[in-house]
Amino acid sequence: MKQFISKIISNERIAKEQYSMVLDAAGMSEKATPGQFVHVRCGHDADPLLRRPFSIYRVRDVGGQKAIEIIYKIVGRGTALLAKKRPGDPIDVLGPLGNGFNINNPSITFIVAGGIGAAACYMLAEELVKKKCKIYYFFGARSKDYVICEEDFRALGCEIHICTDDGSSGHKKLIPDHLTDIIKEIPKAELSTAEIYACGPMIMLKKTAEAAEKAKIRCQMSLEARMGCGVGACMSCVVKCKQGDSFMYKRVCKYGPVLNASEIIWE
Ligand code: FES
Repeated sequence: MKQFISKIISNERIAKEQYSMVLDAAGMSEKATPGQFVHVRCGHDADPLLRRPFSIYRVRDVGGQKAIEIIYKIVGRGTALLAKKRPGDPIDVLGPLGNGFNINNPSITFIVAGGIGAAACYMLAEELVKKKCKIYYFFGARSKDYVICEEDFRALGCEIHICTDDGSSGHKKLIPDHLTDIIKEIPKAELSTAEIYACGPMIMLKKTAEAAEKAKIRCQMSLEARMGCGVGACMSCVVKCKQGDSFMYKRVCKYGPVLNASEIIWE
């Protein structure tokens, strides 16, 4: 983990309230693994005080230089300030942080992304493609205006399943329900080494964990948490996890953001 004063290469709107930012990331990009994140100072100096965490969407080659891309949604003052930044502006970035996805050798994978959760899944899909794994990609959003990154995942060869709340794109269905329906169509023998990877809102993750447990498929989840320090020092990002017959609070920034679904206590 390292702190960089990086330079913004591009910062563009990709869908309603959502942006892609590409950063010059010399020294950081080669260390980034799928599911890791960066902690970014969104304004000038110490205002706003807290950095914001963003999944590393992918590492790109821009004019022979390595760059990282993040995808973000405007949800408050910090991200609104970020959206105003222009190419060439300096930006203070800490990363790469956290523990990402554990990539085994699954024959089939189901990637389940809700909204901006897609940002944690693209590098993962790239790695799975290298392992010649069949990928079903499920993406859920409020409406077609909020659908992001579909063509990037399609270009990787993923089988795409879109669900929206209002049915304006894909199925009018909750993604965990659609996931369950698709899993039912696949012969059991083919599911023995399958894995589910998910990132998105807690309610979607909870339902995806239930679907995974029912189908007896291993499941890893990248958790979205409010963060203070981003490096395990402040306890602002904890999630309740099983520990034997009891429980413990795990810091998402340090032990995650990726955890096994089976260790999380859903409340
Ligand atoms: Fe401070 Fe996780 S953000 S401990």
